[in-house]
Amino acid sequence: MPAFSSLFATQLYQARLAVDRNLARTCLGIADEDRAGQRWARDNGYGGYTSYASLNDLTRRATVFETLEKSIARHVALFARKAQFDLGGHKLKLDSLWINVMDKGAVHAPHLHPHSVISGTYYVTVPPGSGAIRFEDPRLAMLMAAPVKKRNARLENRTFVDIAPKAGTLLLWESWLRHGVEPNRAKGQRISISFNYS
Ligand SMILES: [Fe+2]
Repeated sequence: MPAFSSLFATQLYQARLAVDRNLARTCLGIADEDRAGQRWARDNGYGGYTSYASLNDLTRRATVFETLEKSIARHVALFARKAQFDLGGHKLKLDSLWINVMDKGAVHAPHLHPHSVISGTYYVTVPPGSGAIRFEDPRLAMLMAAPVKKRNARLENRTFVDIAPKAGTLLLWESWLRHGVEPNRAKGQRISISFNYS
């Protein structure tokens, strides 16, 4: 019997966390008040609001973020264990956590999260049709004459993987994994919270 091993696996971690009923309102309240964030979003063509460049204290600003971060941290620790990171007895620590409110038509071009180990997103409000998150094969630049994959190829064999999140979905991945967000075609806003652990 020939043996076929999967090497250099890319891990995507998915979990469900119940959405606190105050979370969406708290995010929108901050989006409404944060002038610096609104300005940054406007100047950088972000279709909506993000606190990415303006606020770095959400977990101290509202208990709902503090509680959420505690549960995300438990999942991050589990990811690190499953991926067998040798952290020399240390824990991964939250580096940044920010709100994204994407309006209709908003996209987020493919990117990485530099200077971090694990990144992820927690989805708060996901109207139907609000666009998937697309992950790319990190070997894309080296594929040369590799054939394209069959339409129905298994997840591990695909070059691009689209995940359509639901409210309460938590996704974690290693920060070097390139990803982007497909256009929000829904009428409503999609609210999510992204974070980096280093
Ligand atoms: Fe991202």
